[in-house]
Amino acid sequence: MAILITGGAGYIGSHTCIELLEAGYEVVIVDNLCNSSHISLNRVAEITNKTFTFYKMDLMDRAGLESIFARHPIEAVIHFAGLKAVGESVQLPLSYYHTNMTSTLILCEVMKKFEVHKLVFSSSATVYGLPEAVPIAENAALGATNPYGRTKLMLEQILQDLAASDERWGVSILRYFNPIGAHKSGRIGENPNGIPNNLLPYISQVAVGKLTQVNVFGDDYPTPDGTGIRDYIHVVDLAKGHLKALEKIKAGSGVDIYNLGTGRGYSVLEMIAAFEIASGQSIPYAVAERRPGDIAVCFADTEKANRELNWSATRGIEEMCRDSWRWQCSNPSGYEEDSFVLHELAAGNYHKTAQ
Ligand code: NAD
Ligand code: UD1
Repeated sequence: MAILITGGAGYIGSHTCIELLEAGYEVVIVDNLCNSSHISLNRVAEITNKTFTFYKMDLMDRAGLESIFARHPIEAVIHFAGLKAVGESVQLPLSYYHTNMTSTLILCEVMKKFEVHKLVFSSSATVYGLPEAVPIAENAALGATNPYGRTKLMLEQILQDLAASDERWGVSILRYFNPIGAHKSGRIGENPNGIPNNLLPYISQVAVGKLTQVNVFGDDYPTPDGTGIRDYIHVVDLAKGHLKALEKIKAGSGVDIYNLGTGRGYSVLEMIAAFEIASGQSIPYAVAERRPGDIAVCFADTEKANRELNWSATRGIEEMCRDSWRWQCSNPSGYEEDSFVLHELAAGNYHKTAQ
């Protein structure tokens, strides 16, 4: 039986594919590569020395998706694909609503048609909006503040309605906090387009000399050093959480919602200092205006995931920064074709890209 991974070429998807392949799962990936590169998949194959099937396809291609379900014995889906940039979602709300909502609806309709009822869905801590208290538990009040967040909130509701309609559905909704870090090999990692919006990719591009300084968005928040506090989680810990969620839904039904974070927050200045230590580089910064929509403090209550999934994050901030740095400095321009790949392709030793 196979697991279908939508968005598997992306940052979190590619790391999750490694964990699945290493755990012995058969993996089928669908990604239109709108925010990723096929090279990440070449490197997943290289790291794991395992094969998988990749379809370069838009999830909105219903007929294409049906042919994948007809061709592979899919038992569950992990659904990462979607657009994720908050600022862009404010500029392009129709694109965000269309892509994130329609593609998920089509995916669920095709799953229903092929009687595949197990789904792990990528949600976000952004659904908590302006949290009333920290740590944030799964039953905290919800309220997204931008179109991206609203797509996650609406999709969470749709999936709950779907599961309520037929008890065969087993759905795990995972609310990620702030994923950072990279696989320890340094071969795959986060590869933002243009100037990064998120803190860690920005810091690492300053450290590698691509950007001149970090702009610290506000130092007058009610936090010990005045800068924003977030719950950064190593992407490999996050990826492992998906395997635990998968195991749980395979054994049961209904909807479960889990925070995936560490339960510990770090400020912007603490992150800059940790990255300086990990990289050995000095990281200049300047305090700038607050970024509209930002909150002061956000970190997870992880007790439910610890208890019900038997999962907890084990990698600390030093390892997160060290692994981000290894990825950044060995791939300063992101994903580029390399000789290993060309050699393996020539030898016919590669994962299969299906038509
Ligand atoms: P990513 O952009 O690296 O990966 C998403 C992948 O989906 C990309 O490879 C992209 O090409 C693909 N994709 C997008 N639209 C598609 C479509 N219509 N058809 C087929 N493929 C499509 O993002 P990521 O950081 O890996 O995030 C994965 C998921 O986790 C997303 O749903 C995102 O909203 C969610 N999430 C991410 C974060 C984060 O900080 N990275 C935080 C919370 C939630
Ligand atoms: C952002 C998104 C959120 C998404 C999350 C993970 C916004 C408003 N929110 O959250 O929806 O779920 O990413 O993808 O974009 N910072 C700086 N300088 C920078 C960048 C960030 O000081 O150049 C600060 C921010 O003010 C914040 C912290 O660093 O305090 C983390 O920012 P970021 O990495 O963008 O994540 P979030 O704000 O948590």
